[in-house]
Amino acid sequence: MSRTTYYTASSLDGYIADAEHSLAWLLRQEHDASGPLNHAAFLARVGAMVMGSTTYEWILRHERGRWPYPLPAWVMTTRDLPTISGDVRFARGDVRGVHAGMLAAADGRDLWVVGGGDLAGQFADAGLLDELVVSLAPVTLGAGAPLLPRALDLRLEELARNGAFACARYTVLDGGSAAR
Ligand SMILES: NC(=O)c1ccc[n+]([C@@H]2O[C@H](COP(=O)([O-])OP(=O)(O)OC[C@H]3O[C@@H](n4cnc5c(N)ncnc54)[C@H](OP(=O)(O)O)[C@@H]3O)[C@@H](O)[C@H]2O)c1
Repeated sequence: MSRTTYYTASSLDGYIADAEHSLAWLLRQEHDASGPLNHAAFLARVGAMVMGSTTYEWILRHERGRWPYPLPAWVMTTRDLPTISGDVRFARGDVRGVHAGMLAAADGRDLWVVGGGDLAGQFADAGLLDELVVSLAPVTLGAGAPLLPRALDLRLEELARNGAFACARYTVLDGGSAAR
């Protein structure tokens, strides 16, 4: 059965981007690309992904117009955003319909909620978030885009060090689709 996982990196004080939507604090950290809870191993089990428009626009800027993911991707937005060559689908509103489309596209593989935090929260609100994998960078930012602005109970399943990061994998206890 497909799991829906919010896989991200965060500052120690719970921000996934700084107040200017910069990830410079994250990208300068040392990490082992083949170490515990690494991104490539996670991506290998994923069949579809979803992100909010700020994250999409960050990827467009960072990758200079190249779409880096060989996966069907949904982008949540109320706006008309620039398109890109790649399997990118724009959607808005209730995430339940998006989740159903992602499940069909993923064909048994897992689903990746890329972020931001409120979008992950929308999946949790709908009872559709199963797992959180977070890599904590050794920085505090004081302000920025929140990791997951919801009240949720989680169970720690895995804990490891990867370079500068403290990496943790949690099951979402309330309302994950695995619980239904
Ligand atoms: N640390 C990491 O690993 C990591 C991971 C992911 C993202 N990030 C960064 O974190 C920041 C996240 O930004 P953010 O907090 O603004 O979150 P975001 O989810 O990237 O973007 C939020 C926007 O998405 C659109 N949206 C969200 N849900 C929607 C829905 N149900 N229907 C229609 N539109 C919807 C809305 O914009 P519009 O309707 O105005 O388009 C909303 O303002 C970005 O800077 C990103 O680059 C970091």
